[in-house]
Amino acid sequence: MSKLTQSFKPAAPRARVYLDHNATTPPDSHVLEKLSTWANDWGNPSSIHQAGRGPKTRIRESRDAVAKMIGTSALEVVFTTGGSESNNTAVRGALAALRRKGDQRRHILSSALEHPSLRRVFDSLVHEGYEVELVPVDRSGIVKVSDVEARLRPGETVFCSFMLVNNETGVIQPVKEIARLAKAAGAYVHTDAVQALGRIDLNLHDLGVDYASLAGHKFYGLRGAGVLFSRRGAPLDPLIHGGGQERNRRGGTENTLAIASMGYMCSRAGEVSDRAAKMKELRDLFEARVLREIQDSSVNCLASPRVASTSSLLLPGTDGETLLMSLDMEGFSVSTGAACSAGSPEPSPVLLAMGLSRGEAQCSLRVGLGWSTTREDIEVFIEALKKVVARLRSLREWQPIATERPHEPSMKVSL
Ligand SMILES: Cc1ncc(COP(=O)(O)O)c(C=O)c1O
Repeated sequence: MSKLTQSFKPAAPRARVYLDHNATTPPDSHVLEKLSTWANDWGNPSSIHQAGRGPKTRIRESRDAVAKMIGTSALEVVFTTGGSESNNTAVRGALAALRRKGDQRRHILSSALEHPSLRRVFDSLVHEGYEVELVPVDRSGIVKVSDVEARLRPGETVFCSFMLVNNETGVIQPVKEIARLAKAAGAYVHTDAVQALGRIDLNLHDLGVDYASLAGHKFYGLRGAGVLFSRRGAPLDPLIHGGGQERNRRGGTENTLAIASMGYMCSRAGEVSDRAAKMKELRDLFEARVLREIQDSSVNCLASPRVASTSSLLLPGTDGETLLMSLDMEGFSVSTGAACSAGSPEPSPVLLAMGLSRGEAQCSLRVGLGWSTTREDIEVFIEALKKVVARLRSLREWQPIATERPHEPSMKVSL
């Protein structure tokens, strides 16, 4: 029997088609309905008087719901403000605690695919005496377990961080196998699971990691709440020192409203696989039509294990920024890459790390489907995309690759 017992209505009016769910998701309509009730619990959850009891209960219920959804104990759930804070806390918090206990190991292993909220922490750690090694990736977008195994150094590798789902390609990484090997080598393991929450079923204990990062606004909750899963017994010093909240793992008065919205959405974990199956049908239809109807288009990581909600396209003869702006004017919200890099003319570091040329990375487009995406959305979007691509190609006098004349190398498409 279908688990989709509750209707899902987007909060935003549907004049436009929103296909950028990897950047953020619209709050679920039930979340918006419950906001004023939650807001009425305005007290400080740390207060021991009456006003603190309501918010304290909300946070407890949310913690239980999150823990149930991700297969952990409630005590292992630390509320933060979002994915970036969770990533920063996992790395810096674990390493600080380990150093304090006298751990001398300084080798960190991660991948070339990680989000800037990890990449930049690693950059700063290099200046603090750590050696950070990034496992390369090829066009499959998958971190190979054997490449990780070859770089693990027992006695030296202290920390490994490998994302579970890539935000640009949607590729699901073999984190369980990586975690098993890294743990066997004595390292602590973190996964950035921000793009996994609500897209695939999660069981973090089964995954075998020590830490994981999540963000509520990627799963139809409000911005301002995230989670750091910290396995019981895993070393963790707080990044933000404060009044002892979150069992001394994250100081600061909790954002009850955002936390309540995240907890509420996690209580709907049972819907994830059916929603994903519906999105996969739409995504497959979308990609099949793009490949068939837009000449020389391709889909990044087509054959790799991917979440159903992400499609990363290469559209030669266009450039992502102009494509994005033209589609925006037509009423469609999509992205050229990570939300945080939007507006930057630099091509996606993730696509470059996968071995795409700058030109290829510059003509990429990320389409992110969500729970409210309909077949009609996809159909109108394909028509708009075809139109915009054709217009951009004609402006650039682009020649199709397939019909390129062999004796005229100067006709070669300049990507
Ligand atoms: C994989 C990944 N990690 C971390 C983040 C950062 O999350 P937040 O925006 O909640 O700080 C994002 C956001 O795009 C992401 O996609």
